[in-house]
Amino acid sequence: MIDYTEKIPNNVDLGRDRVLQRALEHWQPAYMNWWYDMGPSESHALEVYLRTATSVEPDGWAQFGYVRMPEYRWGIFLQPRDPGRQVNFGVHKGQPAWQEVPGEYRSTLRRVIVTQGDTEPASVEQQRLLGMCCPSLYDLRNIFQVNVEEGRHLWAMVYLLHRYFGRDGREEAEALLERRSGDMDNPRILGAFNEPTPDWLAFYMFTFFTDRDGKFQLCALAESGFDPLARTCRFMLTEEAHHMFVGETGISRILQRTCEVMKEHKVENASDVRALGVIDLQTMQKYLNFHFSVTIDLFGSDASSNAASYYTTGLKGRYEETKIEDDHELQNAEYPVLEVSGNKIITRQVSALTALNERLRDDYIAEIQGGVDRWNQIMEQSGISFRLTLPHKGFHRAIGNFAGHFISPEGEVLSKEAWENNRDKWMPSAEDQKFVQSLMTGRVIEPGKFANWIAPPIRGINRQPLNFEYVRFN
Ligand SMILES: [Fe+2]
Ligand SMILES: [Fe+2]
Repeated sequence: MIDYTEKIPNNVDLGRDRVLQRALEHWQPAYMNWWYDMGPSESHALEVYLRTATSVEPDGWAQFGYVRMPEYRWGIFLQPRDPGRQVNFGVHKGQPAWQEVPGEYRSTLRRVIVTQGDTEPASVEQQRLLGMCCPSLYDLRNIFQVNVEEGRHLWAMVYLLHRYFGRDGREEAEALLERRSGDMDNPRILGAFNEPTPDWLAFYMFTFFTDRDGKFQLCALAESGFDPLARTCRFMLTEEAHHMFVGETGISRILQRTCEVMKEHKVENASDVRALGVIDLQTMQKYLNFHFSVTIDLFGSDASSNAASYYTTGLKGRYEETKIEDDHELQNAEYPVLEVSGNKIITRQVSALTALNERLRDDYIAEIQGGVDRWNQIMEQSGISFRLTLPHKGFHRAIGNFAGHFISPEGEVLSKEAWENNRDKWMPSAEDQKFVQSLMTGRVIEPGKFANWIAPPIRGINRQPLNFEYVRFN
């Protein structure tokens, strides 16, 4: 008999909750089967220098040490409860925050939790082959860290399903282990989580763009009137910061290396750059265009009655809800959204409640722009005139007002034909992907060594040196 209270670090008093223990006894072996099947390929015997969340204390919440990933201690942590917390927006504003699920919102809340939960194992599935072509031990350790923490995020959502939703919660928890990223018959719920992540450039873009979508969704759920959901999401955000760090610095290091090579060899055009075994800046722009556009679709339709009702009922707030100075009800407020009219893009004021997805998307884009500006400093400091830019919000969209329209990265409305003719100029072509993947055919696992196409990071993990043995292959 496994002692689950011992095995599962937690601050939810698991030892005294028999119902929850029984539910987890059933779910945990299925989770392990999923990890063995769909977790990182050929990784089970490796010893990885990982951090494990062991408490919710801001300093010292995690421990570092060598772990075989199947033995990782996936724990359940909620931010400590604030007994005075209230519902801070919508029609229930001012009531005490809910400690149990309000009956009338049960199915909606369950759907919100399942949709969030589904993204966590999906990204592990998308990334499972990348360890086989890692650019260094440092990067290999980082992708494994991201993977085990996405696993823990799944645990966080499954905890809520088991603890608060009874039998249908248990069924949903099982279904989370049954869907598969990209599967024709039983895919993951959201589009971007069914796209392949075929190489490390895509991985860094994904952790910069798509994990940051995760951050914004978690921030909105961390405002929820349903207190256990809010507290779970708050704690998940501490881990999410590292995932976005991996993405932003990964792209920075690629740009750094490309710029070094361009300067050293005095080359500018893409084919000369490629011939030197590094990724040309044009290809970086194309990957950016792709990942940005599929990720902003995740925020949903520009006008959404679901978004309005999640807000009105107190289930999902705005980004930094409690820092915003307004009435937190939005009954009479407006918000600008874009739409296509003829061959122009126009701005229209709509009800702020129905535009809440758009507002969250805009908050997200503002933060993304900051990262792109930091990347551009690398080119600036190298004396290279190329700059990365975010494409227009309407570019390559499948959801919302721009779906079915053909918008260029500059924001012109085009015919389908004109757009298709430029597709390979704007997004990674099969040939671009083949080139990127040709750089990543084997793995670099000598401590302190890095693949030619990426610069070393500025510092190691947890103050360890760059030549530290972040992963042991015994
Ligand atoms: Fe996550
Ligand atoms: Fe993440």
